[in-house]
Amino acid sequence: MAPRRPKAQAQQATRPGHGEFDAVADYYDYLMRAIPYGQWVDYVEALLSRHGLQARRVLDLCCGTGKVGSEMLRRGYEVYGADLSEKMVRHCRRQQPPLPAAVMDASALGLRSNSFDLVVSLYDSLNYILDPAKLACCFCHVHRILKPGAAFVFDMNTTYALAAGFFAQSNLGSGDPLEFEWRPQWDSSTRICRVDMRFCWRDGSREKVFHETHYQRAYEIEEIENMLVAAGFAETHIYHAYSFRPPSRWSDRIFGLAVKGDDACNVLD
Ligand SMILES: C[S@@+](CC[C@H](N)C(=O)[O-])C[C@H]1O[C@@H](n2cnc3c(N)ncnc32)[C@H](O)[C@@H]1O
Repeated sequence: MAPRRPKAQAQQATRPGHGEFDAVADYYDYLMRAIPYGQWVDYVEALLSRHGLQARRVLDLCCGTGKVGSEMLRRGYEVYGADLSEKMVRHCRRQQPPLPAAVMDASALGLRSNSFDLVVSLYDSLNYILDPAKLACCFCHVHRILKPGAAFVFDMNTTYALAAGFFAQSNLGSGDPLEFEWRPQWDSSTRICRVDMRFCWRDGSREKVFHETHYQRAYEIEEIENMLVAAGFAETHIYHAYSFRPPSRWSDRIFGLAVKGDDACNVLD
């Protein structure tokens, strides 16, 4: 008897950092249509103003399809995007206004030192960096490309969110043209949450089913702060998302703001 084939779900699992977001790229903006990107940018601006910071030249790091960067362009910033996924980056030019963006790994940014007033990275993009050494490397690069006195603002999912299964989401049976079912599995030994995602796009009589597997790592707040300090940042602040309160054990998302010192030397130069 021929050996049984593994189930389709197992066959199609994407490996960490290899093709995550490739299948969903064409549907990402539709999937995120209810996300209040404008309010997120309001909050980034409120954080900057709370810390007496201003920005003109901005990098949208892990920009995806460019929703954050394009919103900031509309507000008069000079913005560039960088993201690992070529398929996501292609959509940046379709935003209104289009976001100039390049394919780049956040842990190896090939950008000029001391050239940005702000690096922003939203929607738990940094949780996709699973290796702590690579996240530390990302922080060093961000520090290097920032001008002295400039800021890095980012958000991350917390251990609480990833361990408690916040990724368990489904709209099956809703009648939405894009139905999805996401099943998370938390591994406390690796601190990695694997999410098997199944999507079904229905367009008239056509139906397209596709799968993605995403992996996010949870980082403790102290670990994040230590990495930021090791990268050379002079000031670090961590907030419960969309507030000016410190995080609590129930915070599902945190925002970090790190400031490069006026007299900073770049760890990587
Ligand atoms: C959840 S999406 C968020 C996209 C965008 N920031 C937004 O707010 O819609 C996460 C993005 O991080 C990108 N990403 C993951 N790991 C990365 C890495 N090492 N370097 C650059 N981008 C990365 C993915 O390709 C994806 O576009």
